[in-house]
Amino acid sequence: MAGVDHTGPILELEGVVKRYGGFTAVKGLDLRVERGEIFGFLGPNGAGKTTTIRMIAGILEPTEGRLRVGGADVTSEPGLAKERIGYIPDRPFLYEKLSGGEFLRFVAALWGREGPELEERIEKFLSLFSLSQWEDELIESYSHGMRQKLLISSALLHDPELIVVDEPMVGLDPRSARLLKDLLRSFVERGGSVFLSTHTLEVAEALCDRIAIIAAGEIIALGTMEELRAQSDAGGAHLEEIFLKVTGGAEVEDLLDALDGALRRRGGPPR
Ligand SMILES: Nc1ncnc2c1ncn2[C@@H]1O[C@H](COP(=O)(O)OP(=O)(O)O)[C@@H](O)[C@H]1O
Ligand SMILES: [Mg+2]
Repeated sequence: MAGVDHTGPILELEGVVKRYGGFTAVKGLDLRVERGEIFGFLGPNGAGKTTTIRMIAGILEPTEGRLRVGGADVTSEPGLAKERIGYIPDRPFLYEKLSGGEFLRFVAALWGREGPELEERIEKFLSLFSLSQWEDELIESYSHGMRQKLLISSALLHDPELIVVDEPMVGLDPRSARLLKDLLRSFVERGGSVFLSTHTLEVAEALCDRIAIIAAGEIIALGTMEELRAQSDAGGAHLEEIFLKVTGGAEVEDLLDALDGALRRRGGPPR
């Protein structure tokens, strides 16, 4: 692609704000995700993860600030930016009256893709996710997990550079969750990048090179697991205290318990 920067960060957020009426859901986010990185966006429910992801995917417009995907501005160059993203939403929307195969061909057609290469790709995804025998069945007969897998396949059909996933493990059985993890890892090994939101620390810890913790629309900690641990151990404000002060509530405490446990288990040198 002419004039496209393939060396800079794959994703950049600068002063990104989102207001819903008088309520500010995202309060000035600054973030950079480098190529080849799995970046985790961790926070309790209501923290602003989905809002941020929908702005990255170009579905919601930011109230303020800029978002760039591989250098392309999401607002002023939406086509370029979207082409580079494979977006896997938290709430799947699928056409019930299409078969799985028809849905994948429909999505591919939106990207102008068809022909033998596409058919091969579709077969590959269907077989990877054990959906081959369901290819001609209507989506309305699919289980939640099957829908999720079809959706993941549809997001990857156009060869994106950045996979953006919102709460990916919800609704997947252990085998599919494992498959998705392996898929995301092999995707970054081949030069892709991943931005993944989750409310569970286990998912973030198992997958991510760096993690940003978001609470009430603000990033309260950012770094590798080791760096987060150092921040948490440093004198002054503990990660836990910051977290509780900014958010509060039982759910946050659950998250922190998990964080604590994981940090203790980890202990060793950074990956
Ligand atoms: N369309 C909307 N209108 C008004 N408030 C919203 C809307 N979508 C989300 N919110 C609010 O914004 C905050 C962040 O929500 P969300 O981005 O979905 O968080 P998360 O994905 O981290 O759970 C929540 O307080 C939520 O209630
Ligand atoms: Mg969400």
